[in-house]
Amino acid sequence: MSSDRRRGRAGRLARAAALAGAVLAAPGCSWFTAFVEQPKLDPWEVVSYPGHVAQPTRGNPQYSVPITGTVVSAFQVSYMPLPGTIDSMSALKNPTAPTEASLVNGRKLFEINCAVCHGPAGKGDGPALKYGIPAPALVTDHAKGLSDGYIWGMIRNGRGAMPTYDRIEEMERWDVVNYVRGLQGKLAQAVPTGPVGYPGQTGDALPSPTADAPTRPVPYTPAWLDSARVIRAQTPGPSAPAAGAGTGAAAGGAAR
Ligand code: HEC
Repeated sequence: MSSDRRRGRAGRLARAAALAGAVLAAPGCSWFTAFVEQPKLDPWEVVSYPGHVAQPTRGNPQYSVPITGTVVSAFQVSYMPLPGTIDSMSALKNPTAPTEASLVNGRKLFEINCAVCHGPAGKGDGPALKYGIPAPALVTDHAKGLSDGYIWGMIRNGRGAMPTYDRIEEMERWDVVNYVRGLQGKLAQAVPTGPVGYPGQTGDALPSPTADAPTRPVPYTPAWLDSARVIRAQTPGPSAPAAGAGTGAAAGGAAR
């Protein structure tokens, strides 16, 4: 009797084990879920629906390597050594109108990159002065007489004690030029001066994500690049180049 019972229990255990094995082995059935497998927006995902294409929630940071080439590469402009290279950029035409968006972006970049030497209002009184770097005022008659292209080239290459600021992307450099023009009082409206945000502030106080490099790292597909261009053209951002202005106008003008 006791051995019968034991056989019966052994049989039930064997059947249960077989059933569990079958369930676990069933293909396509996941018993173990992870939070990564839930519906969500990827950081670089572009949300688009008819009539609306949004910027990815997070773009690649500035200084990302552009895979679409540069707007104006040095060799297109000049092979001359410094400072001749800057001079040869003097004739570049500024393709960016000094719109509100351009000036806001220019101010952010100026206060981050230039104010430390040239001063928050470009008066040559930045905090670096007391550490022995005298930077000229940018609101002098001399500086007012510099062409947009010259200032653009100066930012690109730097000179003497001024380092290169080609980390400011090419199209955005024109925003800085526009802002300098504002500081000089050469625009219709006066521009506000000083830092845009408090130290460490994020969000709108920061420059936009890169406009030159891809906003999604992989995969590399021409179709995706096309949609990226659509986004850039449609986003009313500070640095969105007007259609054709980015590659055509500046580079073409420079090469000739
Ligand atoms: C490290 C300090 C420093 C920073 C930062 C700096 N500059 Fe300069 N800048 C200088 C110095 C020094 C000169 C003079 C260089 C020379 O004449 O050889 C100069 C010259 C210039 C000139 C030419 C002025 C003239 O009258 O010929 C322009 C324009 C200019 N800077 C714009 C900028 C802009 C725009 C930025 C920000 C993107 C910037 N600078 C950042 C130090 C700096």
